[in-house]
Amino acid sequence: MNTSTNQNLSALELLMNRRSVLSRNLTEPGPSVEQLNTILEIACRVPDHRKLEPWRFIIVKDDKRKKLGEIFCDIRQKQCDLSEEQVLAERMRYSHAPLVIVVVFSPVEHRTPVFEQLLSCGAVCQHINIASSALGFGSQWVTNWCAFDKDAKKELGLKAHESIAGFFHIGTPECFPKDRARPNINEKVTFYK
Ligand SMILES: Cc1cc2nc3c(=O)[nH]c(=O)nc-3n(C[C@H](O)[C@H](O)[C@H](O)COP(=O)(O)O)c2cc1C
Repeated sequence: MNTSTNQNLSALELLMNRRSVLSRNLTEPGPSVEQLNTILEIACRVPDHRKLEPWRFIIVKDDKRKKLGEIFCDIRQKQCDLSEEQVLAERMRYSHAPLVIVVVFSPVEHRTPVFEQLLSCGAVCQHINIASSALGFGSQWVTNWCAFDKDAKKELGLKAHESIAGFFHIGTPECFPKDRARPNINEKVTFYK
């Protein structure tokens, strides 16, 4: 039972105030190796029906960020005409934040419905945001075209049954965004009669 003595006020404050920070506003320093391990361990501490662990991570850091941006830009340029500005933005896509974690949804053939496995993977994703904030970093969960593109998925080594749940850009915020409009919970809730 929750009493005022066992409430975790710093956790509540973090959850009430956390905001995503745009990837272009994230810079060095990024998480250390130990901090990255902490983020990944917390990410994995989610409810997981029948312990299927239907997710995995791909870490993109150092010079691999530029490499991935350039390869994805080449993929995009074969598909559509890009302005000079768009080419630059594509090339720089992973070069702002010092660390990018790709969360791969990797469902398992099992009687547990894929829908439940996806929910568990979504919880992993939000734990990355929360753990990053708790360590003092900013983060942004991004999909964009790259998450749904077959050539981009191939470049990242995804198997046919896997999908990209998100690219998590993590680093030190250059500026903190103001809060955004939040849902009115009265419009979200009904009471069973
Ligand atoms: C699955 C998913 C994909 C998202 N993809 C993008 C994206 O491609 N580009 C983007 O600007 N924001 C994207 N967002 C939104 C941001 O991660 C974030 O929700 C938004 O910036 C405000 O979040 P906050 O309430 O945590 O501050 C995505 C969110 C989710 C849940």
